[in-house]
Amino acid sequence: MKTGIKIVLSIALFSSLSFSNEQFAMSDADRAMYAEMSENNPADIMVADGEELLDYMGGDEGLAKYLGVTEDELPAYIAGFPRYIKKFDMVVGLDQVIQAMMHDTGKKPFKLKSGNMFSLLAYVKSIANGEKINIDVNANAQMKAAYTLGKKTFMTKRGGRGLGCISCHSSDVVGSVLRTQPLPDLGAKGVASAATWPAYRMTKSSLRTLQRRFQGCMKNALIKVIPLGSPEMVALEVYLTAEAKGSKIAIPGLKR
Ligand code: HEC
Repeated sequence: MKTGIKIVLSIALFSSLSFSNEQFAMSDADRAMYAEMSENNPADIMVADGEELLDYMGGDEGLAKYLGVTEDELPAYIAGFPRYIKKFDMVVGLDQVIQAMMHDTGKKPFKLKSGNMFSLLAYVKSIANGEKINIDVNANAQMKAAYTLGKKTFMTKRGGRGLGCISCHSSDVVGSVLRTQPLPDLGAKGVASAATWPAYRMTKSSLRTLQRRFQGCMKNALIKVIPLGSPEMVALEVYLTAEAKGSKIAIPGLKR
């Protein structure tokens, strides 16, 4: 019986669930490292690299012009991504805007998965530091559709273990512990995840983006990995950004 097997596997996966705080308490050494890195986020240098890369394309001014806003309007406008952009007739993330801008200014666009793109994305999003996430999922039919698709992608259970994002990130299980890692609440009341990515991941010693983080979870949970920038992936970002609406943007974040 198929469901029987699924249940057994889920129990196996969750058998390491523990509710004791001690089990995931950071060691003193880790805590010291975290404190040190919060003061001096190693990703600051990558954000600076991103700024330099944007300079080759006209800097903040060029970006504002490309997006059809003034430089003063740029931070609040960035805080509303992913957005439906008429000229692309698509709901897009900031990284896709950067790709299009590179293309339109005669440069070879960086791949969405490249380190240069992660740095550029981190810098561009950091322009909105201190702004509150203001995504409007009711702005138009395209945003409504993206939100619906994102929510569905989040809720749908798939893959070898029959898991969905919701299996680990629902209010029922948030705060519990999976293999010594506390399950984070992705909404505004929790870590307000969307406001703090791109972030430096200490366990990966590198700068990662929100969509790349989603891929990490997909891989770990044996859910088919969705490509960066695909409609489903952008929709997932729309859904989780809407969950974090009102949270202050603080880039680069610092994550375990
Ligand atoms: C098997 C359980 C599990 C599933 C399924 C899962 N996650 Fe996670 N997720 C985790 C754990 C555990 C962490 C924290 C890891 C850590 O601390 O390094 C996490 C972290 C995250 C974070 C980072 C939170 C932060 O710190 O800002 C995001 C975003 C995220 N998950 C999104 C997703 C999405 C989207 C899906 C579905 C595609 C998903 N997760 C599926 C367990 C899961």
